[in-house]
Amino acid sequence: MSLIPVGVLGTGKYVPDRILTNKELESMVETNDEWIVTRTGIRERRIAADNQATSDLCYEAALKALDSAGITADQLDLIIVATITPDMAFPSTACILQEKLGAKKAAAFDLSAACSGFVYGLANATNFISTGMYKYALVIGADSLSKITDYTDRNTCILFGDGAGAVVIGQVPEGRGFQSFELGADGTGGPLLKIEGGGSRNPASHTSVDQRLHYIYMAGAEVFKFAVRIMGNAADEALRKAGWDKSDIDLLVPHQANTRIIQSSLNRLELSEDKCMINIDKYGNMSAASIPVALAEAVEQGRLQEGDRVVLVGFGGGLTWGASAIVW
Ligand code: UT7
Repeated sequence: MSLIPVGVLGTGKYVPDRILTNKELESMVETNDEWIVTRTGIRERRIAADNQATSDLCYEAALKALDSAGITADQLDLIIVATITPDMAFPSTACILQEKLGAKKAAAFDLSAACSGFVYGLANATNFISTGMYKYALVIGADSLSKITDYTDRNTCILFGDGAGAVVIGQVPEGRGFQSFELGADGTGGPLLKIEGGGSRNPASHTSVDQRLHYIYMAGAEVFKFAVRIMGNAADEALRKAGWDKSDIDLLVPHQANTRIIQSSLNRLELSEDKCMINIDKYGNMSAASIPVALAEAVEQGRLQEGDRVVLVGFGGGLTWGASAIVW
């Protein structure tokens, strides 16, 4: 069976209006702007309003992606929302979004792969389209990390922000679109980055709340070491599967967790900074939203021309990783 070439038809992003600066964090925990900027590259991040849930962020990003793809919601066959901050345990955020958009014929589900979720989602949706089962899919990476961040924990609260990035994918001309995917997981690293409370192991209770189990726990230094190793490995593997060399890359769109992690990926891939999307200074780490928001900004800024060779690469809780090579 010959596969249909699949690529990105439209992109969109949404970030909440409220900006939380490093200066404000100085009054919340024992930290300072200089430490945050030098250790992470982050200057500010966006925070969802009390009445904004992840599906609300998805909705705004989705409208833009549909508009930029030139299709309407009722043409969608599939909606995948990659998130670790769903509106609720169920129904899925994808189903909530399907209703908001009026995407009546779309199948819809959420995908849990933390910061790698968007690349996992793209790979899933691509397989549905390349086999001819579906024509158009909406893939969103969205997270409202502020809702699960402990603002008394300086190890984590300085890092995270909220946002959503969306793409519509579908058939593209031969030679364009997704050339390879590299997905992976190492469950032995699960305890390094987690939320223990609220699931079937530790259902929500007064005790779980008192123990702050509903907030993100992260062993930062261990995750950092994993990230530095896996970002390079995953990107290399995506390049190998696509038959590309490092020097073929026109734009790298990495997960935005820490500028030092991004810098180590650039060194490993022998790329200069002008070949990389970096927006962590404005948004911090938005988990599944980081890569698609950076991709949408690359398009907004005119940094992607037809035929450009793009590599997406990310890592996250699970532990998981994902990379993809795309001819734009
Ligand atoms: O999306 C995937 C999820 N997460 C990540 O990718 C995060 C990966 N990890 C990181 O980015 C880094 O490990 C951090 C930014 C979280 C931490 O940076 P680090 O260079 O690994 O610092 P550290 O944890 O080794 O801490 C160094 C020092 C410690 O003080 P002592 O023990 O040396 O006195 C910390 O207590 O920095 C201290 N520290 C802070 N100081 C000021 C930790 N957090 C802060 C803070 N402000 N916010």
